[in-house]
Amino acid sequence: MTSTRIPFNRVGITGGELDLLAQAVASGYLAGDGTMARECERLLQAVTGSARVLLTPSCTSALEIAATLAGIKPGDEVVLPSFTFVSTANAFVLRGARPVFADVLPATLGLDPASVEACVTPRTRAVAVVHYAGVACEMDELVEICGGAEAHLIEDNAHGLFGTYRGRPLGSLGALATLSFHETKNISCGEGGALLVNDAALIERAEIIREKGTDRSKFFRGLVDKYTWVDIGSSHLPSELQAAFLLAQLRASTEIQADRMRIWNRYRSALAGWARRVGAVLPTVPADRQHPAHLFYVLMPDVDARDRMIRWLGEHDIQSVFHYVPLHLSPMGQSFGGRPGMLPVTESISERLLRLPLFRGLTDSEQDRVIDSVLAFPSAA
Ligand SMILES: Cc1ncc(COP(=O)(O)O)c(C=O)c1O
Repeated sequence: MTSTRIPFNRVGITGGELDLLAQAVASGYLAGDGTMARECERLLQAVTGSARVLLTPSCTSALEIAATLAGIKPGDEVVLPSFTFVSTANAFVLRGARPVFADVLPATLGLDPASVEACVTPRTRAVAVVHYAGVACEMDELVEICGGAEAHLIEDNAHGLFGTYRGRPLGSLGALATLSFHETKNISCGEGGALLVNDAALIERAEIIREKGTDRSKFFRGLVDKYTWVDIGSSHLPSELQAAFLLAQLRASTEIQADRMRIWNRYRSALAGWARRVGAVLPTVPADRQHPAHLFYVLMPDVDARDRMIRWLGEHDIQSVFHYVPLHLSPMGQSFGGRPGMLPVTESISERLLRLPLFRGLTDSEQDRVIDSVLAFPSAA
């Protein structure tokens, strides 16, 4: 009997996308900041409580706006995890900063405040935190460190829409935060993102940087009679077509989240006993935070077991993936002083982590196949 391959991710279509795309086409307006984009921003504002939400073409471009808004300049240092996607670092490097890589905590895989504190110098201009898997970092401690260092706190919240920390939404805890709507994210439009501006004093400049350095947003609100070049900036607006797709997903977010949470909880309860027996570790979510069921990972005992598990699942037609290659060990990271052995937790988890298929529409029988294959993994080589 041949089985169908279970991919690591499949874009969950809600059913409303084509209708809204057709409406956008019929409206004759396809550029940025159309009515559907505004509706997306309003819905995101309701979730995050941010003073201003601006849709962007990606989380990467939102991070780049954030770096410009934070006034990053050559010679500045930005503290960030090495265990993250390259954009968290590149956004600041593009403005001339030196990334300083801090280690993460083994429980949440989020920044370790003690490691951040050790990285802070008089040149530290910002700290970028990543809520890995949408599980919040130790935000109270990190806010305090940033306050003491007079550094901007920027949340790379690519994973964490709908997550909370001590009752507060992720994305509302730094002066600036970013979201991703890439196709692997809970809410997606293929490629997409948003900048969350929580410090109201930054809103006007955020709008300008996003609009190619012009005051076009003010012009559209009737506040100036023509628009012109007033600052640096770039093209950071998604089209109304992306907004239409995203709006359908946001309107279905309750169902999407319920589905993902059910799948996540099923993995957790089915694999807990196995993990204890073989010395694997499943995600930890501290009691004072809620996660958005963005991803389900397993930390295997060592790199050999992790690589064998990925191959084993592949032989059973199941795609599982690993990430992140630590940034401090990448060629660029090493050019900024990264060396093996510098960040022991990051180096250990990145060798041991694998992600299981998790997407809306993963059926119970597909998930049972994944679970049964993990349980049948021959733990000794
Ligand atoms: C932590 C983190 N930050 C930023 C990004 C970049 O997101 P995007 O693809 O929307 O630019 C990703 C991508 O997955 C990510 O995992």
